[in-house]
Amino acid sequence: MKIDPWSSKSYQDYTRLRDEFGIQAFTEDCWKDLPSPHRLFRRGVVFGQRGFEQIHDAILNNKPWAILTGLMPSGRMHLGHKMVIDEVIYYQSIGADVAIAVADIEAYATRNMTLAMAKKLAIDEYIVNYIALGLKPERCRIYFQSQNQDVKDLAYLLGRKVNWSQLVATYGFDGGTNLAHVFAPLVQAGDILHVQLPQYGGVRPTLVPVGVDQDPHIRLCRDIAQDFRLYSILKTKDDRIGVFVKVDERVSELLDNAEQAVKRLGFSQLKRITEYKALYIEDATEANIGAIDAALAVTEPSFGGYGFLQPSSTYHRFITGLTGDKMSSSKPESSIFLTDTPQDARKKLMNAKTGGAATKEEQLRIGGKPDECIIYELYLYHLLESDAELQQLHDSCRKGTVLCGACKKRAAELLDALLLDIQKKRMGAEEKIPLYFHNPQC
Ligand code: TRP
Ligand code: SF4
Repeated sequence: MKIDPWSSKSYQDYTRLRDEFGIQAFTEDCWKDLPSPHRLFRRGVVFGQRGFEQIHDAILNNKPWAILTGLMPSGRMHLGHKMVIDEVIYYQSIGADVAIAVADIEAYATRNMTLAMAKKLAIDEYIVNYIALGLKPERCRIYFQSQNQDVKDLAYLLGRKVNWSQLVATYGFDGGTNLAHVFAPLVQAGDILHVQLPQYGGVRPTLVPVGVDQDPHIRLCRDIAQDFRLYSILKTKDDRIGVFVKVDERVSELLDNAEQAVKRLGFSQLKRITEYKALYIEDATEANIGAIDAALAVTEPSFGGYGFLQPSSTYHRFITGLTGDKMSSSKPESSIFLTDTPQDARKKLMNAKTGGAATKEEQLRIGGKPDECIIYELYLYHLLESDAELQQLHDSCRKGTVLCGACKKRAAELLDALLLDIQKKRMGAEEKIPLYFHNPQC
């Protein structure tokens, strides 16, 4: 199985996907101690993660961390695009340092768009809606890939640790793939890692919330980050914890530096073997690796390295389109766009297939199947904030005490209210946009 970030494939079996690609589960332990956990966490819509423990630790212990996500302006923004920004808005509300990449280079490379078209679409469809949904633009940095020289430089420089075979294996590129497209994953790695450059806040844990189709980019970027490190911290075959210098220059200075850094963490039984470029920490255990790694990473820039910590990620499920396949901008009848009129949206919703029984009598007798129902999914992802009400709906559906007609009608009303609210707030949001045109960073 291969995940293709540029196809519009939908995924059914998220557990299998997780197992196959070594994605960790986003368990209750990941979110239960966060302030007012988001409904997408509580309901398992965010189902997977890599390295989330670093973010969890930073949030709970008030350490610096960053969040970066990106949007590719390829069509109108729909409810499937809303999850990521809902998550970002949540993190912003708990004080996160947010950056958003507008992937105009990626849209140019893979969707045959001009940069100007991509920019216009990004602003009119995505950024305006993000602000309408509650993103505070004054407390985050939104930039265009094509305009950020640091991101582009980094993309080029990171390329030294990526080879063609790796890209072929990850993305299925072949001799006919255009080079701008080939380069898109590196620009994305530039997006993700640039927030750890000194001028953007320095080395710190970085969370990238995305849909699971983006996992190949995350894997590549995590590998790149690791490859650029000057140190690696490992448990050796004989169960010792060792710090190894990966480069050949300034080895003894790097070992001195490592010694000081681990002493500051409170370790004292150190054994240095210069010919192995190694420092063993006899009083450390596997559980300390993360802390040692983080302490060493921040020192790497003073030796000419980047010190990038591997980015963490979370993955959300895709919402089913109203026609039963993936919600996609290229299939208007499957998608609820944030700019749909309530009438249009209602029409699409009313036509959607439900998990109801074939006849009213049968449904009264055996109940419906909310877990196979597109309408229920809308409630779960977007329409009901209260878990108690959602549970009640689930129960009544299963028992057959609510019928699809009434249930759809209620969903349509909630959707109406949601779209009207966004519509209203979009007017205020549009006024804030010129700010970004004048920001040289964007
Ligand atoms: N490739 C992403 C998409 O198709 C957009 C993107 C670009 C992105 N840079 C990013 C996502 C950095 C997360 C982080 O939607
Ligand atoms: Fe879906 Fe509602 Fe019908 Fe249950 S009653 S199957 S949740 S539309």
